[in-house]
Amino acid sequence: MEIILTVNKQSRKVEVRPAETLLDLLRRLGYKSVKYGCGEGACGACTVIMDGRPVNSCLILAVTVDGREVTTVEDLGTIQKPHLLQSAFVESGAVQCGFCTPGMIMAAKALLDRNPSPSEDEIKEALDGNLCRCTGYVQIIEAVRLAARRMKAEKKKN
Ligand code: FES
Ligand code: FES
Repeated sequence: MEIILTVNKQSRKVEVRPAETLLDLLRRLGYKSVKYGCGEGACGACTVIMDGRPVNSCLILAVTVDGREVTTVEDLGTIQKPHLLQSAFVESGAVQCGFCTPGMIMAAKALLDRNPSPSEDEIKEALDGNLCRCTGYVQIIEAVRLAARRMKAEKKKN
């Protein structure tokens, strides 16, 4: 079946197989930041933003995303010009093996887009479905707080 979706602001017309997941489709299209962790909605490694909400792409059939808008971490920043969340994660020591990082950052981005000044509890709740085996979460929460502070300061400047 052919579907049309927008990925990182680019319209894509693609053939999808009936049982293909959004996770498999995104990786097939080259968005390798989207990670396969558990394949059953338990780890958050495959988190992307779809129509403004964070979703586990392993739980979504590609045929159902016709007309939807998907954002992956590839759209956020580059090595030369990282997004504030990406630099905050690096500076806070929130990236160790990095496997959970793209999903964590997308979950954090969805949070900050709807709530620019989250409390620690709100950050914990937003990242609840994203597992990290390396950091112990303290640095990740600090990174989200740091990014939120910097985004606020940037907004004030503009
Ligand atoms: S791979 Fe999707 S939640 Fe784990
Ligand atoms: S940094 Fe390794 S799983 Fe999170």
